[in-house]
Amino acid sequence: MYRLGLSYFEVALRNQVVRRNAFASPLHNVDVVNEQSHRPNGDKDKETGKPDNEAGKVSPKDGSMRQVKVETKLKLNEKRMKTLEIYRWKPGDQPTMQKYQLDLDECGPMVLDALIKIKSEIDPTLTFRRSCREGICGSCAMNIDGLNTLACIHELDTNVARTSKIHPLPHLYVRRDLVPDMDEFYNQYQSIEPWLQRDNISEELGRAQYLQSVEDRSKLDGLYECILCGCCQTSCPSYWWNSDKYLGPAVLMQAYRWIIDSRDEAAEHRLGQLIDTWKLYRCHTILNCINTCPKNLNPAKAILQLKQLLQGTTKKCKPKLQTDELFPNQI
Ligand code: SF4
Ligand code: SF4
Ligand code: FES
Repeated sequence: MYRLGLSYFEVALRNQVVRRNAFASPLHNVDVVNEQSHRPNGDKDKETGKPDNEAGKVSPKDGSMRQVKVETKLKLNEKRMKTLEIYRWKPGDQPTMQKYQLDLDECGPMVLDALIKIKSEIDPTLTFRRSCREGICGSCAMNIDGLNTLACIHELDTNVARTSKIHPLPHLYVRRDLVPDMDEFYNQYQSIEPWLQRDNISEELGRAQYLQSVEDRSKLDGLYECILCGCCQTSCPSYWWNSDKYLGPAVLMQAYRWIIDSRDEAAEHRLGQLIDTWKLYRCHTILNCINTCPKNLNPAKAILQLKQLLQGTTKKCKPKLQTDELFPNQI
């Protein structure tokens, strides 16, 4: 009376098969085929006298169980084809979204693996930047399914029912396909003078090591790890609308990184360059930059700390280790 569908044993077996299917690989495929072909003393078909599995039938005894296995075998033999829709454009053309299909079982797990496979096996004209393939160089930044991130450390969505869409970083000019024009971004980065500045650098140069206490060094944590990929910069609505005047989260975070460095002596000069209605104060704390950073950094916090320094609510502390005092002894 309570046997409405499958027995407890059969449900457990189904779940096991479903779990196997979820992690389907050629190896699992072999397992299931062997289980069937090695089944000893299989039931015989009454009409043909052949074993059931040869006659394509199942016996009433274990019918549902074997049916599941046959279905699973068929499913496991299916390819897991994933569709990628990729932005294509080259000068003189109209932009299009081009579809490519990939067998997930023959492709690496990351989006960059898929792009490299398409370029080497399907369409050599597909253009994108990449170098380190491990989240260090920042060159493979692009918009994947609506998120600005690094293709080399972003996993390909394995749901084959969903099409993954890949665009270049938004609100930048495009040079070709997934390659954005980063010139403006690099010019803005250059404008904050991202190098060590000291009052007597020409006299000090090469004579002693610039010292830094552990405490002072720790102030650079969460700042120095930035790889200048531009994901935060191009996710910021304020930057979208004023990219020619507002410096944007990545560049402002690097400005703060040099201002707060205990070895740098140009904090006042650097802050003075940010007193402008556009360069810094276009940040409206929308926080897209935090949500998108693939290195889990917090540019919005650095921007807030810049504002506090400018307003005088905080001050840069004196260095714990006085590098200056080292130099007279070195002459
Ligand atoms: S917090 Fe500021 S920098 Fe970050 S996304 Fe918002 S406006 Fe842009
Ligand atoms: S803060 Fe993050 S998202 Fe922005 S440039 Fe640096 S690493 Fe990229
Ligand atoms: S290839 Fe270098 S960060 Fe992706």
